[in-house]
Amino acid sequence: NPHFTYRDGVLHAEDVALPALAAEVGTPFYCYSTAALEANYRAFATAFEGTDTGICYALKANSNLAVIRTLSRLGAGADVVSEGEMRRALAGGVPADRIVFSGVGKTRGEMRAALEAGIFQLNVESIPELEALSEVAASMGRTASIAIRVNPDVDARTHAKIATGKKENKFGIDIDHAREIYARAAALPGIAPVAVAVHIGSQLTSLEPFRAAFERVVELVHALRADGHDIKRLDLGGGLGILYRDEEVPAVGAYAGMVKSITGNLGCHVTLEPGRALVGNAGILVTRVIFRKTGLHREFLIVDAAMNDLIRPSLYDAWHTILPVVEPSSDAPGSPIDVVGPVCESGDTFAVQRVLPHLDQEDLVAFLSAGAYGAVMSSSYNTRPLIPEVLVSGADHAVVRRRPTVEEMLAAERVPAWLDP
Ligand code: LLP
Repeated sequence: NPHFTYRDGVLHAEDVALPALAAEVGTPFYCYSTAALEANYRAFATAFEGTDTGICYALKANSNLAVIRTLSRLGAGADVVSEGEMRRALAGGVPADRIVFSGVGKTRGEMRAALEAGIFQLNVESIPELEALSEVAASMGRTASIAIRVNPDVDARTHAKIATGKKENKFGIDIDHAREIYARAAALPGIAPVAVAVHIGSQLTSLEPFRAAFERVVELVHALRADGHDIKRLDLGGGLGILYRDEEVPAVGAYAGMVKSITGNLGCHVTLEPGRALVGNAGILVTRVIFRKTGLHREFLIVDAAMNDLIRPSLYDAWHTILPVVEPSSDAPGSPIDVVGPVCESGDTFAVQRVLPHLDQEDLVAFLSAGAYGAVMSSSYNTRPLIPEVLVSGADHAVVRRRPTVEEMLAAERVPAWLDP
């Protein structure tokens, strides 16, 4: 990645040396590169140039306001899954008419907020949701532009916990019953079924599952139009994978070519919801070795980041490349070591028997490709304060979320009077 490189023997984020940043903000912390975010967005925008396509960044991947603002300035819309995310998108400068609202469990309150804000589209995933949305919209005297999210029963060939397009998943409406549901939607007050949505999973490393799903969607659009529905839009979700280790990831251009070849003749506006592909490789997690410990059978590096800060390795056995912040000499011998955090669970493991150059206490290391599903999935388990996020741009940097104090963490809690001594 050209935005995180060694210069003068130390790892930099753009033009900012990480040891200095670590000294200033304290470890662990997330660090994002503006140039990487912009390059990723521009690659998408360029690949779809000249087509009627809206790139709605899936906020769930990284919803820091400064990250949203970086992308919205370039024209990105947003895919949101809660009222909170919708409000973040608006606060980050995304116009309401570029926001789509996804998710299997929108509350009536969230529906009302979305309709009040005047967002572009709600993606509906069940009949009860359709009925609730109709009631809410009609009571407000509004019409909700909706997509029905269909489940195409396609195997995304990704980790089971992030595959969403098989019949047994909770997502979408079975594509074989979609025509009945569109008929029902069209008859409901306050509902305008204008789109078909699909999203089959995340971190896809092959175009084939996308192709299979999109072909089924195009077939459905023809059938729905024959039934008299005015389908004007497609929402093709997100899911394009990134390089973590040695995956062969499709280029954005190839993905765009496939999308255009399958959907190009429909005359539909296309919404895309990329998350990871825009932010994943634009962020790293910097952590410091607390101790090096020799166990009975293994060596351990105990770092000051833990599963509560970056849960992907614990949850999905995800691989994040680990780089020493001080550049190792090219002939430094590597040896296998387990990289673990301080949390009291064996699952608090970042890497097992990873071959790394010699590292010792106080050394800094960086976990790469931590920009997506990193900070957003963190918790304060073990009363570990959420770690700061820093955005770099050239030689500039800004702390875009500061580390809360323990006092702030305790301030939301109350001990009831009956527990007084
Ligand atoms: N659209 C919908 C409806 C989604 O459910 C998702 C992700 C996206 C778009 C964005 O997908 P992306 O382009 O980022 O693949 N925490 C997991 C990933 C969960 C993805 C959930 N849905 C991880 O760390 O790998």
